[in-house]
Amino acid sequence: MVSIAILGFGVVGSGVAGVLTKNREQIDAAAGDAVRLKYIVDVRDFPDSPFAPLLTKDFSVVERDPDVRVVVETIGGCGVALEFTRRAILAGKHVVTSNKALVAAHGRELLELARLHNVNYFFEASVGGGIPVLRPLKFDLAGNQIICIRGILNGTTNYILTAMREEKLSLEEALRSAQSKGYAEANPTDDLNGMDAARKLAILSDLAWGREVRAEEIAREGIQNVSLKDVECAARLGGKLKLICEAKLLPEGGMTAFVAPQVVMPDSMLYAVDDAFNAVLITGNAVGDVMFYGTGAGSVPTASAVVGDVLDAVRHMGKRRDISWSGDPAVLSDPMAVSGRWFVRRGDVAAIADERPAVLAEEDAACYRVLEK
Ligand code: HSE
Repeated sequence: MVSIAILGFGVVGSGVAGVLTKNREQIDAAAGDAVRLKYIVDVRDFPDSPFAPLLTKDFSVVERDPDVRVVVETIGGCGVALEFTRRAILAGKHVVTSNKALVAAHGRELLELARLHNVNYFFEASVGGGIPVLRPLKFDLAGNQIICIRGILNGTTNYILTAMREEKLSLEEALRSAQSKGYAEANPTDDLNGMDAARKLAILSDLAWGREVRAEEIAREGIQNVSLKDVECAARLGGKLKLICEAKLLPEGGMTAFVAPQVVMPDSMLYAVDDAFNAVLITGNAVGDVMFYGTGAGSVPTASAVVGDVLDAVRHMGKRRDISWSGDPAVLSDPMAVSGRWFVRRGDVAAIADERPAVLAEEDAACYRVLEK
């Protein structure tokens, strides 16, 4: 039997407990062993939860228990989550996480620590929720030079922009709806300002190009200033405004990475990606375009990816999967220098231009890149 502990009984942690219980038979068969949840660590009380008997407030119980071979970290953030992850690895336990903030900021360090202690640190759920994308990128596409990654990596903002377009909701109304569905971060600022998406783009870029891309260095514009008029004018031109993550090699050498609202036209594979769905469109020099699409946020879909990692850890007890990147920093060029077409709105009049206007003097005006096909 392999015992598991979950750290953090929030949206994702409770989803993991649910999936481990509901799909017990399939999971045991896939693992070739009984996989059992032994502890859930959380500072809060959950007296009405069916998992109440497993709850403890004391992480050292998990740390000291040799039966616990895999620790699932779904606390989030870089505080106690970092400390517990380090301690779990030092105690010889595999760690699986959905915590994109931690992976983006400390992933390389934790992967190195895991290597030294002959355990795995897995984080498939940190990008694209339930969508399998990190393993395909790292392993199945390993024979390619990755040329470009484009994606919709934040379910909250995609849901908001879809609701603004289809239901004419204000940004605030749509955000409240996204929060009630468990898509948004505890502090939705990171969803709205593009930081959550930038962290996911940084993780994808680390794996694609093998160099450290810092989320803070990715040029970023969120959706806070997107107006209903922008969304409607884009729709009148046949497009949809979406928060797009883009990282690519430049023809003149080097690379760029940015997160910004872009107008997506029907000729793009990302056009149909609405609501809280995510998609990652990867272009490799051998495979061409491949798109990974699915549910990018929410409790149970994200738990699907976490449990997949748990199973990989169980199947590789005593062995390591080579998922890492070097500490050499990637140098990112200014995305403004990348040519392309632009959506320009002045009042109620919008058009697509071949160049970005040098100045947009009007008060009621906006300008967004048009996503290249
Ligand atoms: N707040 C995130 C999102 C959750 O909306 O995509 C999944 O990472």
